[in-house]
Amino acid sequence: MKSIKTSKLVMVILTLLFLLTACNSNSTGTSTDEEGNKKEDSEGQEKVTIVYAAGKDPTGSPHKQIEAFEKTHPNINVEYREMPTDTGAQHDAYVTALNAGSSEIDVFEMDVIWPAEFAQANYVLPLDRFIQQDGINLEDYNQGPISAATFNGKLWAMPKFIDAGMLFYRTDIVEEVPETWDDLITQAKELKGQEGTKFGYLMQAKQYEGLVCNAVEFIAAYGGEIINDNGEVVINSEDSIQGIKKLVEIANSDFVPNNIITFTEPESHTSFIEGQSPFIRNWPYQYALANDPEQSEIVDKVQVAPLPEGDAGSAAALGGWLAAINKHSEHPIEAWEFLKFMTGPEGQKIDAIIGGHAPTIPALYEDEEIIEANPFFGNEGFQEALNAAVSRPVAPNYAEISEIIQIQVSKAIAGDITADEAVENMQTEIEAKLVK
Ligand code: GLC
Repeated sequence: MKSIKTSKLVMVILTLLFLLTACNSNSTGTSTDEEGNKKEDSEGQEKVTIVYAAGKDPTGSPHKQIEAFEKTHPNINVEYREMPTDTGAQHDAYVTALNAGSSEIDVFEMDVIWPAEFAQANYVLPLDRFIQQDGINLEDYNQGPISAATFNGKLWAMPKFIDAGMLFYRTDIVEEVPETWDDLITQAKELKGQEGTKFGYLMQAKQYEGLVCNAVEFIAAYGGEIINDNGEVVINSEDSIQGIKKLVEIANSDFVPNNIITFTEPESHTSFIEGQSPFIRNWPYQYALANDPEQSEIVDKVQVAPLPEGDAGSAAALGGWLAAINKHSEHPIEAWEFLKFMTGPEGQKIDAIIGGHAPTIPALYEDEEIIEANPFFGNEGFQEALNAAVSRPVAPNYAEISEIIQIQVSKAIAGDITADEAVENMQTEIEAKLVK
């Protein structure tokens, strides 16, 4: 364990580094002056620059959204601050800056697992007043992400896109979509090496949040649960053990990369678009990326299916991102205008087409251009799959609970403990940490 002194020092250094980058970078290349961020545009109107922080997006979608916003809002300039893709690293960067009361970022994206923590820490502005004033109807949105953004009766963020874990497969290699995890194992062994592939399956098995998502899927597919509807920790069950065992078996198989415990989304999606595997578990953006001729060697060779079934069926983890306003933003009005655009139908449409992200506004699934770009969004059952996706525990200290899961599952993958021991440890440790 780090000493309190060391971790304080690390926090301070991180904050300084963060603020320094904040001062120096201006990725849209316009309009921040030396003293502040207000400048006159050509018509003499005051121009405000706001900073939007979001994880690096391999599709370039945020730039397109910003471009469209700036066209219709000539008095607002948006500077895009690219953050780490790893949600945990991104989380820590925000917490460091926001905890220090920094006003550097105006709008930032928020993983669906953060609102309780950020609301309780008082980092973000409640959006209810803006929503009311602009007559936004929250019923136009999927209710899952809306409830993820709600804490203590207030709305702290607006949904940008919704994620659910899915199986992507190569249509030139796979003849029959595997129905169960055991089918997947059989096929992954057989297909490894075909059409130049090096592996049979790709997943995210590094010790980080993505591993929690993969674990949630295996646990639920075999009938287990982490926390039940009554808020009780129930992970210590035979079903969860079965799920963890299957995850461990796959992560230790010789059809996944032998350094799979270093794989997050970028490592896995890169290997997939380079044509190295017939299967990958990933989020919906994988489809757009696999069909991007500038980056992918497998254009038009990918299809999507639900994740394979365990004894209790197929289960997808619920993920997704929201957008929130820094409590200390000096430009809350402009920040809201931008947030409203990004999370509204126009912003989400660009993100669905370019970024392959699944909209949180059900009506957008009727949009022909969106469906043309992502035909599986139109598949019968895709909406239901999103609605049925399994949430991770909701708690203001979710990060601590996640860490317990990450550590125990990683130890089980490494063979340091058995699946039985992993669920026993998770049960005791989560029970001790859960803030209800
Ligand atoms: C995706 C999901 C997010 C999840 C993360 C894990 O970005 O949208 O909810 O926490 O993956 O890596």
